[in-house]
Amino acid sequence: MIDDIRLEGSTPLQQQLYEQLSQRILRQRYLPGSRLPSSRQMAGDLGVSRNTVNAVYDQLKAEGFLQSRAGKGVFVHEDIATAVKPAGPGLERPIRTAAGLPPLPVPTHTNIRTAEDANLPFQPGLPDLDAFPIRSWNRILHHQESRRALRGYDSIQGYLPLRRAIADYLRTSRGVRCEEHQVIITNGAQQALSLIADVFLQAGDRVLCENPGYRGARYALGRHGNPLVPVPLRNQVLDVGALEGLGPAKLLSCTPTHQYPMGGVLDLAQRMALVQWAQRNGCWIIEDDYDSEFHFYHKPFAAIQGMFDNAPVLYVGSFSKTLMPALRTGYLVVPEPVIKPILNAKRVSGGETPLLAQATIAEFIDSGQFGRHLRRMRQLYQDKWKEFQQKVTVELDGLVHPVAESAGMHLVLEGTFDDLALSQWLETCGFGSTPLSAHFIGKQVQTGLVMGFASASEQQMDDCLAALKTRLLAT
Ligand SMILES: Cc1ncc(COP(=O)(O)O)c(C=O)c1O
Repeated sequence: MIDDIRLEGSTPLQQQLYEQLSQRILRQRYLPGSRLPSSRQMAGDLGVSRNTVNAVYDQLKAEGFLQSRAGKGVFVHEDIATAVKPAGPGLERPIRTAAGLPPLPVPTHTNIRTAEDANLPFQPGLPDLDAFPIRSWNRILHHQESRRALRGYDSIQGYLPLRRAIADYLRTSRGVRCEEHQVIITNGAQQALSLIADVFLQAGDRVLCENPGYRGARYALGRHGNPLVPVPLRNQVLDVGALEGLGPAKLLSCTPTHQYPMGGVLDLAQRMALVQWAQRNGCWIIEDDYDSEFHFYHKPFAAIQGMFDNAPVLYVGSFSKTLMPALRTGYLVVPEPVIKPILNAKRVSGGETPLLAQATIAEFIDSGQFGRHLRRMRQLYQDKWKEFQQKVTVELDGLVHPVAESAGMHLVLEGTFDDLALSQWLETCGFGSTPLSAHFIGKQVQTGLVMGFASASEQQMDDCLAALKTRLLAT
């Protein structure tokens, strides 16, 4: 009976024997009611101690796999037959799905990047990780680590000193009208967008999305199956004039200070028209202010959120670009009546945000280092932006058209090529990018590559553009 049992490798013998016997019983290789060898015999055959076999038999008896019959020996439990093949309404036929799992969720078609892909040079959205002031950061981190107050629970809304620091920063640098109690810390901008979907959307509510636009917003806002209605761009920004013809909507998602991915900036008149349209139509604006710290030649336009009293705006920000994505820390600023519903939604989707990261960011801001870091990064990204743009113009002349607002961390290289295939090929060369066509809803698409220059060195720019040139000339 036990000829096929093999005990080898470094796993403890008792564990191996337990697993092999229980598996054989479950798969009915050892039938219910059949007799197992005595512990003495099994120990002898397998070359293990009798204590080991007795311990495994005891465990299997306690779990209902085996039963002892006085004076007769140890048997596979009779009841195993019904446990393995349960009978009853709905249980007649075993469910057959992948690898015997219960029914699987409806498949979605979005690719989830691996860690390697996500951190390739030119990956859009990736900051220059080497330029991060890691020593000063670590000093603050070590100081915060030892604080007992950070070892327990905290408020769902987020660490108060961080909310205070964010509110100060947003008031002075972005013109956002807010107090600390309106700031809610989230697990990146992504959680902020998902919470908005949870709180605001009922079945059938329509959501307006810039087209092309940020895919993270589309995934979050479409997560309950609500219709996503594309809003076209005009001169690389949301076409505010087109909104009237698009029908009612509960939410409008946009990136007014640096359209993602095309890079345009909504001017003052368009901002006012947008807020007025939203007020007239009872629509909430999601203002995703993801990288406005990096405008190179002038101060960015103040946020829409602060333009009017009671503007129907849900303001979303993130430390992924200004500090680092690994912190997974973002924030939402919402009007008073929206605070509680968002906190209730946050309580059930992840709860609190890790305290140590929040406290470290708060001290980093309060000590003035955040401001210094932003000034350094703005200069660095401006230099990289100029350099990459120049190199593209020289190297890929006539092959691509760079779309380059003087801001942010990425460029779009428009061109008439199969952008998905080109982006996949670039990845095999060790360079990140996203195909422009993937940022569109529906069929009307432009093609090109979205390329993040912030994470690339000069050498990587040269190598990547040389590779692209060869490929584009060959196809
Ligand atoms: C348009 C836009 N919004 C928000 C984010 C930030 O997302 P998160 O804070 O979840 O990293 C990004 C990052 O790539 C982005 O491109």
